[in-house]
Amino acid sequence: MGKKLFIENKYNSFKKTILVDGDKSISIRTLLLGSQAYGNTLIENILLSEDILSSINCLKKLGVKISLNNNKCSIHGKGLNGFKFKKNIILNAGNSGTFARLVLGLLVKSPYYIKLIGDRSLSKRDFARVILPLQKIGATFKVNNKKTLPLQIIGSTFVNPIRYFEKRGSAQCKSTIMLAALNSPGQTVIKAKKSRDHTENIFKHLGIPIIVKKSKYYDEIKIKGQKDIKSFKYEVPSDPSSCAFFVVLTLLSKNCNLKIQNVNVNNSRIGYIKILNKMGAKIKIKNVRTKYGEKQADLYVKSQPTLKKITCPPNLSSNLIDEFLIIFLAAAKASGVSSFSNLGELNKKESPRLKLGSKLLNQLGIKTKLTKDSIKIFGNPTIGLKKTINVKNYYKDHRIFMTSVIAAFTFGGKWKIDDIDSYKSSFPSFLNIVKKLGFKFKIV
Ligand code: S3P
Repeated sequence: MGKKLFIENKYNSFKKTILVDGDKSISIRTLLLGSQAYGNTLIENILLSEDILSSINCLKKLGVKISLNNNKCSIHGKGLNGFKFKKNIILNAGNSGTFARLVLGLLVKSPYYIKLIGDRSLSKRDFARVILPLQKIGATFKVNNKKTLPLQIIGSTFVNPIRYFEKRGSAQCKSTIMLAALNSPGQTVIKAKKSRDHTENIFKHLGIPIIVKKSKYYDEIKIKGQKDIKSFKYEVPSDPSSCAFFVVLTLLSKNCNLKIQNVNVNNSRIGYIKILNKMGAKIKIKNVRTKYGEKQADLYVKSQPTLKKITCPPNLSSNLIDEFLIIFLAAAKASGVSSFSNLGELNKKESPRLKLGSKLLNQLGIKTKLTKDSIKIFGNPTIGLKKTINVKNYYKDHRIFMTSVIAAFTFGGKWKIDDIDSYKSSFPSFLNIVKKLGFKFKIV
């Protein structure tokens, strides 16, 4: 039997400043673009999580020289489509949906079939969303009917400049097409439902010809390909999605103050802060500066004993897609019934998160009303648990693990959580920060 995390909550109050690990989305994008640049790219404060290590191993298999020295990563790129690899290589993306999807965009000229595989959770996820546009661009795939991993991709010598309508609000789909467009001789045009815009920002920063026209719900992105990319230096800010766990821990604990330094506060990533503030939190974003076209700042959070219910605007879904689980936990402690809709995508993540999030709340004694794409949460601000909660069979979803740990410290009861390494795919310092804030747990 695998090890379990045991938590029996003792009340704890803290006043601390913390630094959270580097942003996962930006770490993956800088790696991919560094691999397409000419010369030595240096990425500082890169996230050293399992998803990133899988990404680095895949790029090495594609012939890119990469070295890691603590959180400094240097990449020796050989320019656009400069991969050098043998026939029959297999890329293992592990748990990383972002890397697995985005790297396909850079393989549209591959002269041989390349096999892409992933872990059990990634092998259940949908790849049709990137296969379809990449086929239009010129790639050919060998894949099962469900369009899941493992798959094989082979490219073509001509990369079609396409027009594509991305309707899901998926930054991964949008970015995959944008990366493929780098190799196209013409202009690729994407109309994309709003989602995180790190790929756009880094393209602009690197001088790649890109025009972005923003409107309320959709952006129009035009890219001209085949422009050389110069090597670059990038310092990755902290991941706002990882911060969200400690933001909610602080809000739901008593007499706590937390400062989180140097956080990526890109508008497309801080929907959860806006929602929590609407629920009555007073999270402050201070000392905002812009670096590499991305906003960074420090977050200030204080305990908030009385949170109010929220009706989450459906158009915000892709803006806080990775934070819903922890927001659900805040809603479970808020007064009144909170509603979240337009959440079909949430069941397509590392686990069926909408279903499992609801199940976790039910285990806590919180009533929910669940449909295939929405949830109502009947909050209970005075809940205090005495029972034992077992968290298992959750596809090792890192965000379910971390949400469970925060629930254990804020709802009481005795907790036994399986698959204790799951958090390492996105946030390897998570348990160290938990300890630093004075919380106790045992691994048995
Ligand atoms: C990501 C986009 C989101 C998000 C994922 C990271 C990215 O996925 O859930 O954790 O870095 O582009 P979708 O694009 O599938 O919504």
